[in-house]
Amino acid sequence: MTQPQAAALDSNGATAASAVGASILPERVDVRFEPAGRQFRVPAGVMLFDAASWNGIAIDSTCGGHGTCKKCKVKILEGAAPVTSLDARAISGEDLRQGWRLACRVALTESLLVEVPPLLTRPKAATVGVGRRVILRPAVQKRFVEVAEPTLADQRSDIERVLDAVDDLELSVDLGAIRSVGRALRLSDYKVTAVIVDDVLIDVEVGDTTDSMFGIAFDLGTTTVVATLLDLTTGAPAAVRSMLNRQQPFGADVISRISAIMMDPSGAALDRLSALARETLNTLAEEVCQEAGVDPRSVYEVAVAGNATMSHIVLGIDPEPLGVAPFIMASRSFPEVLASEIDIALHPRARAVIFPAFGAYVGGDITAGLVASGMDRDSRVRLFIDIGTNCEIVLGNSDRLIATAAPAGPAFEGASIKCGMRAAAGAIEVVKLSPQGVRLGVIEDAPPDGICGSGLVDVVAELVRVGLLDHSGRFVSDQDAKEIAPELADRLTNLGAERVFVLYWRAAKGDVEDSIFISQRDVRELQFAKAAIATGWSILFEEAGMKPSEVSQVLLAGSFGSYLSPASAVKLGLVPKIPVLRIVSAGNVAGEGAKMALLSSRERAAAMALLEEVEYLELSDRSDFNDRFVDQLGFVQ
Ligand code: FES
Repeated sequence: MTQPQAAALDSNGATAASAVGASILPERVDVRFEPAGRQFRVPAGVMLFDAASWNGIAIDSTCGGHGTCKKCKVKILEGAAPVTSLDARAISGEDLRQGWRLACRVALTESLLVEVPPLLTRPKAATVGVGRRVILRPAVQKRFVEVAEPTLADQRSDIERVLDAVDDLELSVDLGAIRSVGRALRLSDYKVTAVIVDDVLIDVEVGDTTDSMFGIAFDLGTTTVVATLLDLTTGAPAAVRSMLNRQQPFGADVISRISAIMMDPSGAALDRLSALARETLNTLAEEVCQEAGVDPRSVYEVAVAGNATMSHIVLGIDPEPLGVAPFIMASRSFPEVLASEIDIALHPRARAVIFPAFGAYVGGDITAGLVASGMDRDSRVRLFIDIGTNCEIVLGNSDRLIATAAPAGPAFEGASIKCGMRAAAGAIEVVKLSPQGVRLGVIEDAPPDGICGSGLVDVVAELVRVGLLDHSGRFVSDQDAKEIAPELADRLTNLGAERVFVLYWRAAKGDVEDSIFISQRDVRELQFAKAAIATGWSILFEEAGMKPSEVSQVLLAGSFGSYLSPASAVKLGLVPKIPVLRIVSAGNVAGEGAKMALLSSRERAAAMALLEEVEYLELSDRSDFNDRFVDQLGFVQ
């Protein structure tokens, strides 16, 4: 085999490693795939098969990287990959000498140049997440098999017959499969479908059901829960539904839900909140199956991405320690459970995968978001901000990722704003101020009924731009307003002792009480929120030794981030001052990450591995937080 020639890979990882000796692993290595001509930087130690899969390079496989199908042969053209015992059994001596290896057995310890042969079986791919191409390799797979009828001479058990028919996989057998196999074989003239999840045979179904295989991705939000039914044979969504989390009567945010549990030592509140979360998931599961005409028994797996509090509660784990310093989780990762154990009625052996969390306030929804954005595999520096009551921030690239959470408060939910409302029909979401007056964008073009988070950011950014708010966030005097913006000056007025700016006269002009306005206190709420967020990312930049100018992309995530005007976000200082074209709305990345975990067991493994890769920084531990927070309160005009 050709010896390593790291220079050909434009890698510094391999060069450094070979210079100092083989015992030191570089943290990242480069792997280049031919004939695709694509090169990626991945964490050292990752299996070659996974590195290919994560980056949309398809390598033949029917076992999904479990080392049983022996189909994942690739040729190592440059770099070293030791021969494993499985390689020696699956590949001839001559081919081994030429560099052929099983990709799922090659641990990447140095940079490699790899030739991927043409596919014998063509795996499908789907574009999910933030434009990521994912090779479809769900943990769930089905095999249609025709087995020989038993005879006096052939005394193999029913389950042995099925296992022998899928002998490229080494499977363990679930009791459910043993219960169903006898009937299924005899009802279907010995033509059955083996249902496999990872390496477990969970069921044997009558006839050929291979085209009916589904999973449900849940984004379990504190406010809203979204369910996407996915056809695991194509990767396409079959139905999407959302509803308010039924825990709403216990308060709008995680703290009020934790408080309700803390105040009830009997444990009844935890049971109730847990039941309500499960009811929400089950109702949505029913609805998506009904909408798509899918039998719930054909759903074999669900993935749940939620913040740490929601994940704890849905699993019946007391979240109380999350609500008080030092903010400790019962566990950062959770074992797989059956969907039925959290009261979701699907296939009786359907599994539920709950995303792991980095910290009490950077939960599984953010882990899922990172999977969706692929930040851990991208050499570009990116800043991920999920804006909400609690704002999660992640900075970095494939070399290093640091995460933190900033307490932004309820301003963005509209809850603490005088005329605030959730982003629903009638909410003012866009505001433009001009010499002609005020232009408003209202959700669903309904009559204005209040201001949602994005409208609040817009109006404050516009008031700063035209000069009606000074850099400290104070409304200017009436006299100054007449000089600065005469066409808007009559909207700047008083309600009682408080200064307000009127956006919309509901009744007669001048009836401030009945108008939709933004008050001085509202501006202060937003200032606190933006200062907390800006303090969060500025500390991350410092910790990472990076500068905002190095950022290639800011990803604004979550329902609020999706509607936020990038220009207003920059103007306010919610995000670093970078060209607005580098600021993109990433949408519901938690839901996208949950989908990816269902479509690809490799993506799921990557999500679990993120726990080791992302550094978590607790802001409340920083002695300089308050000083920095105060520095960030002002507006730059
Ligand atoms: Fe099946 Fe490697 S992927 S043996």
